[in-house]
Amino acid sequence: MDVIICKTSADAEKLTARMIADAINAKPEFKLGLATGATMENVYAELSRLNQAGEVDFSQVRSWNLDEYAGLAPEHDQSYRYYMNKHLFNNVNIDIRNTHLPDGLAEDEEAEAARYDESIDEAGGIDLWLVGIGKSGHVGFNDPGTSFASRTHVAYLNNTTYEQNKIYFNPPESMPRRAYTAGVGTVLDAKKVLQLITGERKAAIAAAAIEGPMTAMISSSALQLHPDTVIILDEAAAADLKLKDFYKEVFENDPKWAKYQNA
Ligand code: GLP
Repeated sequence: MDVIICKTSADAEKLTARMIADAINAKPEFKLGLATGATMENVYAELSRLNQAGEVDFSQVRSWNLDEYAGLAPEHDQSYRYYMNKHLFNNVNIDIRNTHLPDGLAEDEEAEAARYDESIDEAGGIDLWLVGIGKSGHVGFNDPGTSFASRTHVAYLNNTTYEQNKIYFNPPESMPRRAYTAGVGTVLDAKKVLQLITGERKAAIAAAAIEGPMTAMISSSALQLHPDTVIILDEAAAADLKLKDFYKEVFENDPKWAKYQNA
């Protein structure tokens, strides 16, 4: 795992966007995995800016999102389809037909989940999956107890996740208690994983996920198994990392990071 600590959340968001833009520029027919959440909003704003400035082209990019609430229509303002259209897809030159999220209204949930994994496989797999982390250590909606081998499925959300996300709903109790999520195994199949973690409220779970033992109780800890994971944090989220100084030393001195060192 490569761990990069940026001074501010703005620095971390910009670096994340730049790494994604560089990866797309190196392979225009890019298969991009995406995430939602407050953490990603500025990343998508920066990618939109880079696209509008002609610095990255989404015309051949295909995307798959991590998750979607079961039972929500795409037009619902808390659906992740709505979030993605608003924060990224409407602002860049991606072909909307090439953007994929599970269909929250699908009648046969198991078939929909299987179809989602198949669509990724048929495309040849995800080149890079951008992920965040929830307070319960989840990636996507893979709450504690989810198998590292899990594939896309509908998950019943635990209390931490329900409390974390219901504030966005009006009324809060209208938040669906179940959601589609790419499985931990689905994410681990991506060629590269880029995780962004910002803010003081994520410091404890970031340290547990990155430096603690791998456990299904923290689905993000499964990224320790992935051969090409880059984790970008701001100082606030990195506060509890034991190897903080070492990660900084590596980023400042290892030539493999040269192009990003003074970003
Ligand atoms: C939701 C999403 C996750 C995301 C998490 C963190 O639960 N399903 O994919 O990582 O929220 O959100 P935030 O960035 O708002 O802290």
